[in-house]
Amino acid sequence: MIRVKDLRISFDGKTIIDGIDLYVPEGGLLVLMGKNGSGKSVILKALSGLIDYNGTIEINGIDIQELYKDRYDIASETAKRLRIAYVFQKGGLFDSMNVFDNVAFGLRRMRVDEGSIENMVVGSLARVGLKGNEQKLISELSGGMQKRVGLARALCFNPNIIFFDDPTAGLDPILSDSISDLMLEIKNSLKTTSILATHDNRAAHKVADSIALIYKGKIVYSGDVSGFYSKTDTYARQFIEGEIEGPIDIF
Ligand SMILES: Nc1ncnc2c1ncn2[C@@H]1O[C@H](COP(=O)(O)OP(=O)(O)OP(=O)(O)O)[C@@H](O)[C@H]1O
Ligand SMILES: [Mg+2]
Repeated sequence: MIRVKDLRISFDGKTIIDGIDLYVPEGGLLVLMGKNGSGKSVILKALSGLIDYNGTIEINGIDIQELYKDRYDIASETAKRLRIAYVFQKGGLFDSMNVFDNVAFGLRRMRVDEGSIENMVVGSLARVGLKGNEQKLISELSGGMQKRVGLARALCFNPNIIFFDDPTAGLDPILSDSISDLMLEIKNSLKTTSILATHDNRAAHKVADSIALIYKGKIVYSGDVSGFYSKTDTYARQFIEGEIEGPIDIF
């Protein structure tokens, strides 16, 4: 369960997130939508304990400020208990390392023994359809395969919570659909609670249980998927149709 109350984030005095509330029940998948620069990634980073914020973020009953106490030590007891995975928007992969070492990176930092790491990495790569690619370098892979390596890295430690930051960006519709299917498969088999940040309407429609739309640091739509796509809400309609006219300024 994820509960966010009055979240506020600013950089150099500029407010990016201006008091938002979010709630994702256990096993649910919330899609966070909003135009470029609206603060989707910033929210996911705060939720992962990677940046500072004001307000409260509670994950499975634990106030994640606790993670800061350990300077976000991935091997800390709190981090191990929460098992939060974050799939970076830019992939966050190491070009010079092979696929295996990229997926194993976090596990090694968690000081898991090498024998278990081998099983976890191989299992995770199989899950995303990349079995047999362990020795390839990241630079040898297509963009779509790199996205899958990012997912495999997030999945390898059997997370409870996953934050997907724009995993379908830059992919063709077929590859994008396969990533959506993978997110659904993960949700159903691992019973994860997750948030997906995206402006890919096709992906959102397919995987979301609920949708929150951010605009100017606030939530302007929050509710179920059918309500969002019924386009009765003026913000939702403009966002879905990409119209210039409407309550959302284009710049
Ligand atoms: N570390 C930082 N320091 C200063 N400003 C930042 C920092 N991180 C993000 N920002 C600013 O916060 C705003 C929101 O950025 P964010 O990356 O969250 O947008 P987004 O909704 O994820 O956009 P996109 O759809 O393009 O991924 C932007 O104006 C960005 O410049
Ligand atoms: Mg982003």
